[in-house]
Amino acid sequence: MGIPLGRPGEPLEVATVVAFLCMHASSYITSQEPRQEAKISTAMAKTENKWSLQGTTALVTGGTKGIGLAIVEELARFGATVHTCARNESELHECLEKWKILKLNVSGSVCDISSRSEREKLMDTVSSLFQGKLDILINNAAKGLFKGALNSTEEDYSITTTTNLESGFHLSQIAHPLLKASGGGSIVFISSIAGIVALPVSSIYSATKAAINQLTRNLALEWAKDKIRVNCIAPGPIKTFLGSAEGPRIESFGCPMERAGEAEEVSPLAAFLCMPVASYITGQVICTDGGITMS
Ligand SMILES: NC(=O)c1ccc[n+]([C@@H]2O[C@H](COP(=O)([O-])OP(=O)(O)OC[C@H]3O[C@@H](n4cnc5c(N)ncnc54)[C@H](OP(=O)(O)O)[C@@H]3O)[C@@H](O)[C@H]2O)c1
Repeated sequence: MGIPLGRPGEPLEVATVVAFLCMHASSYITSQEPRQEAKISTAMAKTENKWSLQGTTALVTGGTKGIGLAIVEELARFGATVHTCARNESELHECLEKWKILKLNVSGSVCDISSRSEREKLMDTVSSLFQGKLDILINNAAKGLFKGALNSTEEDYSITTTTNLESGFHLSQIAHPLLKASGGGSIVFISSIAGIVALPVSSIYSATKAAINQLTRNLALEWAKDKIRVNCIAPGPIKTFLGSAEGPRIESFGCPMERAGEAEEVSPLAAFLCMPVASYITGQVICTDGGITMS
């Protein structure tokens, strides 16, 4: 098979990855081998500064807490105009107030991404806010489910697969015309190392995350011709509500860095993957896990 977007990379497109991996922003990334495989060069032309998101638009699902919150703020600080969503209206309004004070360009709407009709309404909102174009889609929101297979119910299976997998697939599908219209769109899925290695009591959750890893590669291949890059971040244990409330404890992971990560150690990678500097990276699943998956 040839190169999906049909050109070899430039040395600068490798140098930018080297630079990113040496920054403090990648402090929870070790032992990764991101392969540079395809291109989008129109995004590069869009901004003079290749390490910037100035002038771009983004939709981040689940931006009121944890990793999603850190990504919203990271993208906005790099100059993106961001729209986010969550189910809890009062928490969303609290965040919107805070972002206003911080002078971050962020709007938001209440949306339960497990509902097909609410996803369609969300994309209509985004389309009218951003005049039918979207540069960045971050499929972040998910449902954690840490239950043994034998204790898991039909409802557990249904709600976890709908929230974690179907929603990201459908949002990507309905965002496609907007991303294509921007001339250089970027999708980032947030999966999990649970989709790469087997962890105890998370069969359904892990299966949804493994499916997202493969979906990343397939969409990257299908949509390269539309100048849409698709990548995925697989976090290890991160100190968030989901990470600390329900999941397995850090001691059970055997983490070489011997600590859980911060949401702010995931968000810089999301921003990097959407920047013109990452123009030759697509179809990749990159772990931010303190080295857990290296062996
Ligand atoms: N934390 C970890 O250790 C870890 C590890 C690996 C992967 N991940 C992945 O990272 C992503 C973010 O996790 P997190 O730890 O940051 O979670 P979190 O702290 O629980 O935050 C989740 C965010 O998503 C929103 N959300 C949840 N369900 C939603 C729904 N159905 N519709 C719309 N919004 C929804 C929440 O707001 P509302 O509750 O108001 O809806 C909240 O803003 C997830 O994909 C998760 O699987 C996390």
